[in-house]
Amino acid sequence: MAPSVKTVELPLVEDTEEFGRKLGEVVRAGDLVLLAGPLGAGKTAFVRGLARGMGVRGRVSSPTFVVARVHEPEQEGGVRLVHVDAYRLGGHLDELDDLDLDTELVDAVVAVEWGEGVAERLNEDHLLIRLERGIDDVRTAQLVPHGEWADRTLPV
Ligand SMILES: Nc1ncnc2c1ncn2[C@@H]1O[C@H](COP(=O)(O)OP(=O)(O)OP(=O)(O)O)[C@@H](O)[C@H]1O
Ligand SMILES: [Mg+2]
Repeated sequence: MAPSVKTVELPLVEDTEEFGRKLGEVVRAGDLVLLAGPLGAGKTAFVRGLARGMGVRGRVSSPTFVVARVHEPEQEGGVRLVHVDAYRLGGHLDELDDLDLDTELVDAVVAVEWGEGVAERLNEDHLLIRLERGIDDVRTAQLVPHGEWADRTLPV
């Protein structure tokens, strides 16, 4: 079945963060979110909102030089967020395996910048979010649900 793609306009960086925050309120342990889009598209801004919506600790910044950063939940019973940037891996998928994300995916939410074409195999059920900068710098997000995400309620 072809996934039903939804598009949302995100004029301001605050809109991207707010969109992430709303998704952060509905994600649960085991969820995989892949972020695609060119440099500066807003992937990290989205994850900043996601972290706020999930209620996890720590500042979200680009984890480019550390590959992955773990944000623990503020509250007991919360879910932790693993924020990965696959850009630096440059196709070295064995490094992705070294992160043991399939273990993380049991009880964490995993968000992967530059994840399209790289991290799908971690969980066939995943949400792909393609952030784009169109002409006149109009920002949009395309949501592409895979597997059980097709039946999930998305905040759009
Ligand atoms: N509507 C918007 N959504 C997201 N970011 C925006 C928007 N408008 C302007 N910006 C700006 O664009 C930049 C997006 O940066 P961000 O680090 O989130 O991108 P990125 O996709 O993670 O880039 P990289 O590929 O380098 O990791 C920020 O400086 C932000 O302020
Ligand atoms: Mg980034």
